[in-house]
Amino acid sequence: MTRYVTASITKKKTEGVLPVMEGTMGPDAVDITSMYSQQGILAFDPGFRSTASCQSAITFVDGEKGILLYRGYPIEQLAEKASYLEVVYLLMFGELPTQEEMDIFRQRVTHFNMLHEQVLDFYKGFRRDAHPMAVMVGVVGALSAFYHDHMDINDPEQRINAAIRLVAKMPMIAASSYNYNIGAPHRYPRNALGYGANFLHMMFGMPSEDYVVEPVLARAMESIFILHADHEQNASTSTVRLAASSGANPFACIAAGIASLWGPAHGGANEAVLSMLGEIGSVKNIPKAIARAKDKNDSFRLMGFGHRVYKNFDPRSRVIQKTAREVLDYLGTDDPMLEIAMRLEEIALSDEYFIERKLYPNVDFYSGILLKAMKFPTTMFTAIFALARTSGWVSQWLELHNQGNHGIDRPRQLYVGKPTRDYPNK
Ligand code: SDX
Repeated sequence: MTRYVTASITKKKTEGVLPVMEGTMGPDAVDITSMYSQQGILAFDPGFRSTASCQSAITFVDGEKGILLYRGYPIEQLAEKASYLEVVYLLMFGELPTQEEMDIFRQRVTHFNMLHEQVLDFYKGFRRDAHPMAVMVGVVGALSAFYHDHMDINDPEQRINAAIRLVAKMPMIAASSYNYNIGAPHRYPRNALGYGANFLHMMFGMPSEDYVVEPVLARAMESIFILHADHEQNASTSTVRLAASSGANPFACIAAGIASLWGPAHGGANEAVLSMLGEIGSVKNIPKAIARAKDKNDSFRLMGFGHRVYKNFDPRSRVIQKTAREVLDYLGTDDPMLEIAMRLEEIALSDEYFIERKLYPNVDFYSGILLKAMKFPTTMFTAIFALARTSGWVSQWLELHNQGNHGIDRPRQLYVGKPTRDYPNK
């Protein structure tokens, strides 16, 4: 017998009625905190499609209108006008920095941008061909061993210090995993370079010669970092918050976020898009790929398409597509994969299957083409996503603690196993 709970939204508070919480923008929320204690019944929402896990003032996404705001500022404006460290400051502290605040913040990041020499020793324990994401999970988690014992997460200043440390060290951690892969010596940051330029220097510079930073590529790098910085309560950010709720130290929490981001349904999609475009190989094979993506008996999906929240377009995808075209034009290179990607988008978006399911290119669809044009190996794509998303993860970690950690996150379940039974007498 199927039972249904009916509820109507009223203005008065009476026993058994659940209050409605109103946000600044976007959907309101029914507060079901007391529902189980009051009614002895749980809410069931395994993919969190209808569940707000927290209150946050950092990022806002309107999936129907294709809107993404960081602390109220549209992503398109930030990607075009701001530096990545300016956006990091905005995400962490809620307002854009004054020039003086920016100078002090940049100095604090620069102060922490190198890795302890013993941390670099960890890389030797990995196989040369270890995936950079495997290395980053290990190395970031290992930072706990360097900072855990003198890290009081109840001290707001120490929390901010840890957050800045993580943002500062990520470029060297990511670049070092690439250097180790190719047998190149680890490269150290240059304090005179901007954040994006420094990462390019540590990736592609050689100790035997000065690395010439190309402003177009440095700006593209900053834009890529800004576009990937934060995105509400996505899977990896929710992983960070869940780990944080137990009081785990920030290095362990961010390592958990990196692990979660690696999945091909999440941050691993940009690497998967390139593999998919390579597998398609030419425009003439697109119809076959689309047929496979629609075939329920085929696990093949159009990587870089679809999104849990964006049901119109991903504003980041449009910015990244424009930047990819600019960088390819600047480098004077043409990439047949860009042609395949644009034709694939065009054909898919006129196909009823994709229209009906509101499947549009997401941020990962074009990012791989841009990163490939900038000479990054495919295996570094998700590592770059993790580097950029560290600013969002630490900002959300700070917000959870600043709001007064509401206690450990511990979801319930709907039990569908065996009822109580006795061990058989033998
Ligand atoms: C990111 O959450 C975030 O904010 C994430 C992110 C961030 O910044 O943190 O934006 C970054 O992770 C972007 C997403 C990158 N992932 C991919 O590009 C992988 C391919 N996309 C899919 O795996 C999928 O679209 C998801 C995971 C992104 C979203 O999946 P949902 O919301 O759970 O949707 P679903 O799987 O329930 O799909 C709904 C329907 C299904 O068909 P029906 O059962 O209704 O017939 O759409 C189909 C799916 O089969 N579908 C696809 C498809 N994505 C969904 N069919 C073909 N190709 C696809 N890519």
